[in-house]
Amino acid sequence: MNALSQSVSEVDGFNEDTLFARIAEDILQTGYSINPAALPPTLTEALYRHSQLMSPSQFVSAGIGRADDYLKNDFVRTDEICWITGESEAGTAWLHWCAELQKYLNRRLFLGLFSFESHFAHYKAGDFYKRHVDAFKGESNRKLSVVVYLNSNWYTEDGGELVIYQNWQEEKGIRVTPLMGTVVVFLSEEFPHEVLPAKRDRYSIAGWFRVNTSVAERVDPPQ
Ligand code: OGA
Ligand code: MN
Repeated sequence: MNALSQSVSEVDGFNEDTLFARIAEDILQTGYSINPAALPPTLTEALYRHSQLMSPSQFVSAGIGRADDYLKNDFVRTDEICWITGESEAGTAWLHWCAELQKYLNRRLFLGLFSFESHFAHYKAGDFYKRHVDAFKGESNRKLSVVVYLNSNWYTEDGGELVIYQNWQEEKGIRVTPLMGTVVVFLSEEFPHEVLPAKRDRYSIAGWFRVNTSVAERVDPPQ
């Protein structure tokens, strides 16, 4: 555990259990959980500082990939991403916090989450991510999605809200302002969601907890 992870659990340790319990309860009741100003402030600040110090060259277009890959297509999304591998202190502390959340949810909900992957995302003015699901039933082992936001002073006029829908037909959805420290968790296969076009730079982190779907003749690839 690095010094930052240590201070996150010492300073904010008490609140974490309350937050983890609320997330578990929400997932059980509705399948999603929206928590404003919930990420430990020391961790939020470190991630924010890191996101601002990263050079644009560390981000790659998320919309580049096979044209027939629905989620990697610049018609669907125009943001840029940078995978979090634990090379920075802030990144490591984030992965540590997610590992604690994973442990808690496994104990409480028996979800069998076994691995985690996560990236920073940068939406420039005009960028969007159209309505999508993070996992298609039976095609992916992504089980639970987590998103946190790193934007101070976000106003309605700034756009860029996350909208979570109950199904593909619903029009209204639940709007989430991408404000600093908000933690959103939802079942990856259940909720179509989108990022409305942002009017200014928007930073978020998205991550996915995966289950192990290995069978004898097919071992899961690492990614
Ligand atoms: C994603 C995603 C939401 C957001 O990266 O899959 O849905 O609000 N992100 O950044
Ligand atoms: Mn998504």
